[in-house]
Amino acid sequence: MTTIEGLPGTVGRDLHPMQQAWLDRDVAQCGYCQPGQIMAAVALVGKVRREGRSITEADLDGIRNICRCGTYTRIREAITQGERHM
Ligand code: FES
Repeated sequence: MTTIEGLPGTVGRDLHPMQQAWLDRDVAQCGYCQPGQIMAAVALVGKVRREGRSITEADLDGIRNICRCGTYTRIREAITQGERHM
């Protein structure tokens, strides 16, 4: 099992591309939901890649992780950016 702490190790860098996208898009507010959001995003990219395609708006709509701070727009932008660099 990979945790948010181990995610950079999966790519051999200081930050995983999805984590870098989160920073670039300044996604987090309180931060409470963010590890789960990032892990869900990485899992989603892996799923669509196994299906031989890219993330769609419908895929983003299907993410069910709750963010009480309402950062959903930035989350979607970060996932799109992160996917491009994975
Ligand atoms: S950033 Fe606060 S709950 Fe998502």
